Amino acid sequence: MSHKQIICLGLESSCDDTAAAIVRRNADGSADILSNIIHTQTDVHAPFGGVVPELAARAHIEYMDQMVAEALKTAQLTYNDLNLVAATSGPGLLGGVIVGLMSGKAISLAHDLPFIAVNHLEGHALTAGLSHGIEPPYLLLLISGGHTQILQVNKVGQYELLGTTIDDAIGEAFDKTAKLLGLGYPGGPFVEQYAKQGNPKRFNLPRPMKGRKNCDFSFSGLKTAVLLAAKNIQPITQQDKYDLCAAFQAAATDVLADRLKRAMLLFRENLNVTIDSPQKLIIAGGVAANQAIAKKLTALGQQHNFELIVPPANLCTDNGAMIAWAGITQYLNGNTNNLTAPPRARWPLYE
Ligand code: KG4
Ligand code: ZN
Repeated sequence: MSHKQIICLGLESSCDDTAAAIVRRNADGSADILSNIIHTQTDVHAPFGGVVPELAARAHIEYMDQMVAEALKTAQLTYNDLNLVAATSGPGLLGGVIVGLMSGKAISLAHDLPFIAVNHLEGHALTAGLSHGIEPPYLLLLISGGHTQILQVNKVGQYELLGTTIDDAIGEAFDKTAKLLGLGYPGGPFVEQYAKQGNPKRFNLPRPMKGRKNCDFSFSGLKTAVLLAAKNIQPITQQDKYDLCAAFQAAATDVLADRLKRAMLLFRENLNVTIDSPQKLIIAGGVAANQAIAKKLTALGQQHNFELIVPPANLCTDNGAMIAWAGITQYLNGNTNNLTAPPRARWPLYE
């Protein structure tokens, strides 16, 4: 491991957050987040109940410069203090990715700094190193509006996909349930609040993929089941909404736990370690904020000797700090200049 201090500017614009952050990797390997600035486009997309790519790209253009200026100001640094620039170059909505990627390349060229094109998923995958100093191997559950994946992180740059959704992402299912019931956007936090006052057993919703041998997910059937259950009880009362949210959340949580249980067994098999060897499970992505999910997965972890680690909420959702940290990590691994890297709508981590 190198003993260099590195100060990196990280940019993120792959979905609906325009973010810039400055992270310092100290000579002893520890990290400090000197600034972590974000503009979330909730108000732009709320009327549509989901992210509108064209509107997202326009908002990124409008806000990226401000985010960078604020990140430098908060860190009390100038461009001259930076050693590295990193930006998300995929996967994500192409219009937005282009904004952050080209901004990063321009700053790198203007100030003669090395540039790293970061895979957004790698940003999430390595966040536990930034927040908790944790190094691979570990199991990663990534649950957000765009992704539902279980990854085995063997070491930096070596990721194995254990399971993924075959249709909708889990966050999307939360958002669609909220939209159906007219609760607001983004829907996850509303569904969680409503579920607290509901009876999860009133509606008998399916648990798609439960018991399957692989670790994959499916959420579109669950979404349709909620729709049908709601249709059958029109006009819908406030208590109906509470009960539907509780039933949906219970089903989604159940599925997560079942798929993750399989992944824990597979992870041990792959690493050739028994249940006596303590392991780590990291949860990242916006849905990781859900307390009912965290509670269930903590209990599951205890049964299987996996310690559950959830980075702080502002590092779980999309942010610039995780991109800066992934950039620093890549740089120390010998990746020095990606000025020709293209924006990529699709970019699996495990190819
Ligand atoms: O990671 P994120 O901020 O953005 C990306 O999708 O990349 O995740 C946003 C997703 C949304 O679908 C939102 O509804 C969901 O995370 N979410 C939640 C909660 N808070 C946010 N889902 C369930 N429970 C929550 N408390
Ligand atoms: Zn993300």
